[in-house]
Amino acid sequence: MIGIIGAMKIEIEKIDSLIQNKSEKQIAGTLFVSGTLNGKEIVTAVCGIGKVAAAMCAQTMIMAYSPDCIINTGVAGSLSDKAGILDTVIADSLVEHDMDTTALGDPPGFISGIDTVYFPADKYVSSLLFECASGIGGFKAITGRIASGDQFVASAEKKDKIVAQFDACACEMEGAAIAHTCFCNKVPFGVIRAISDCADGSSHMDYAQFLPQAAAAAAEIIRLFVEKYEK
Ligand code: ADE
Repeated sequence: MIGIIGAMKIEIEKIDSLIQNKSEKQIAGTLFVSGTLNGKEIVTAVCGIGKVAAAMCAQTMIMAYSPDCIINTGVAGSLSDKAGILDTVIADSLVEHDMDTTALGDPPGFISGIDTVYFPADKYVSSLLFECASGIGGFKAITGRIASGDQFVASAEKKDKIVAQFDACACEMEGAAIAHTCFCNKVPFGVIRAISDCADGSSHMDYAQFLPQAAAAAAEIIRLFVEKYEK
């Protein structure tokens, strides 16, 4: 079974509309929709915004459905000239950019206990996502680090800081929390994000304008991924 998590309804509803033999279960305030897509078992969920909601959703999905892998899909702000609006970024690794125990001598993003800064994405899942994204709508797909935090990044100053600290090429608010949860449960995962804005002073306007198209692009990539996934 393939698990698919998006933060917002708009990032998941297209996939849900394609599910056959649908069954729904509400757990801890989140609706899980399972069934088949192209003959493959999938389960989807809209987790809500931010790292806590995302981690709760991923953990619940793992315990209730035991997925073979989890994909986090949706939109992101670009931190790199290499990813423009409606291009896609496939994570090779993820970081929680607002995790900060530097006052105790740790490096930025360090997660004590696990003792890591970066969560590497599964290689098979990520390369298949990249293959699927490369054929979509004439837009570019790139691979790179995605930084997640509990804030909508909307200034050059914040953007530059995340790039300087973590060399990330996109920012969003859930991916690293899902990565963290999957890592702890030994579940392979991947993150695919379509760029809706450039995380700068215009990001709130670009986000509103491009969210529907970016979400649709990400959903189409997921549809292709499910078709091609072999496990
Ligand atoms: N998701 C889409 N754009 C974003 C941004 N600029 N910051 C955080 N999450 C986002």
